[in-house]
Amino acid sequence: MKQNETAAQAGLPSWLQDGTQDGLRTLLQEKRYCWLVTGAAGFIGSNLVETLLLLGQDVRGLDIFATGHWHNLHEVKKRVGEAAWSRFAFHEADIRDADSCAKAVAGVDYVLHQAALGSVPRSVKDPKTTNDVNVSGFLSMLDAARQAGVRRFVYAASSSTYGDEPNLPKREERIGNPLSPYAVTKLVNELYASVYSRTYGFHSIGLRYFNVFGPRQDPDSAYGAVIPKWIAAMLAGDDVQINGDGETSRDFCYVGNVVQANLRAALKEDLAASDVYNVAVGGRTTLNDLFSIIQAGLATHGVHYAKQPVYQSFRAGDVHHSQADIAKAVRELGFSGLFDLRRGMTEALSWYLAFIAGERSPA
Ligand SMILES: NC(=O)c1ccc[n+]([C@@H]2O[C@H](COP(=O)([O-])OP(=O)(O)OC[C@H]3O[C@@H](n4cnc5c(N)ncnc54)[C@H](O)[C@@H]3O)[C@@H](O)[C@H]2O)c1
Repeated sequence: MKQNETAAQAGLPSWLQDGTQDGLRTLLQEKRYCWLVTGAAGFIGSNLVETLLLLGQDVRGLDIFATGHWHNLHEVKKRVGEAAWSRFAFHEADIRDADSCAKAVAGVDYVLHQAALGSVPRSVKDPKTTNDVNVSGFLSMLDAARQAGVRRFVYAASSSTYGDEPNLPKREERIGNPLSPYAVTKLVNELYASVYSRTYGFHSIGLRYFNVFGPRQDPDSAYGAVIPKWIAAMLAGDDVQINGDGETSRDFCYVGNVVQANLRAALKEDLAASDVYNVAVGGRTTLNDLFSIIQAGLATHGVHYAKQPVYQSFRAGDVHHSQADIAKAVRELGFSGLFDLRRGMTEALSWYLAFIAGERSPA
């Protein structure tokens, strides 16, 4: 690698330094676009903002801090440096407010729409609010993007759309009935995106994320995902709760893969006007195996967790097994050089150890 290339790559996330990402990296380092990331203060949104800023892009972020945090944006600022941060503009706004969406999206090339209320249990408890944000908010952002004439609207869809479809691995064209209010909202997003392409010729790509994990996924959220919850519990010496018998399986996907999929979905030419892609690694890990992987990973950092998991009943609305077929994303988007669960977990654990130590140490 030449010296100037090394300098240009300094500070980039490790997945983006891989040779498989040369084309994507060069494309963005040579051309400057304006991006709107909704849900920018959240887990996935803040990772998108960080990577785009490191690649020299102009970025706007929109968030209302429903589940996102200022500390995520502060961390991005620290990681990218003042010069890159000056290319970021933040809109504290609600996606349900059409005027705010219109302001945020004016003059933007690409929208990466992440803002939503995640979590199946939250939607079971309060389906109306989830619908309000995830359907009305989605439509308001989609319509603002259409009226602003953006090049492409890439949005966070979800593996929950497969619902009760029993076959594995999940293929994009074969979906079942949704099993939760959250899954309904994500399916409706896909329907609206498809209708907008047929009615207005508007270009959009839905990315059906499977269980995403990595730095900045909230360990303290009441409706948190398993990986941050378990890491936090193990670090505190608390019980790790498993819903069901632990043989439930998931296709855990490192956040760097998700960032890659978003950038490729935005920039790839000659895609259908509206389409959906699975975003995962194509693996299948049971919760019992995940427990052992995290336990072993923490042991390499000198944290020895000796307790057994505590098993409880399955949760309403949860899918029992999930695994993606990612062939379509590989073929059509050029999705490549993926970090698998173990490689992603190494990155995630380093971040959680630093974050939790920082949070809990005396000021
Ligand atoms: N994390 C996963 O495993 C996963 C899996 C499938 C799909 N998704 C989808 O990916 C997207 C991002 O998820 P995440 O894991 O980063 O969650 P997150 O909760 O960390 O991020 C969502 C962000 O959206 C913001 N938001 C919520 N309501 C808003 C509103 N009304 N107006 C403006 N901003 C609002 C939140 O404050 C938060 O910052 C979501 O659409 C989620 O449904 C995530």
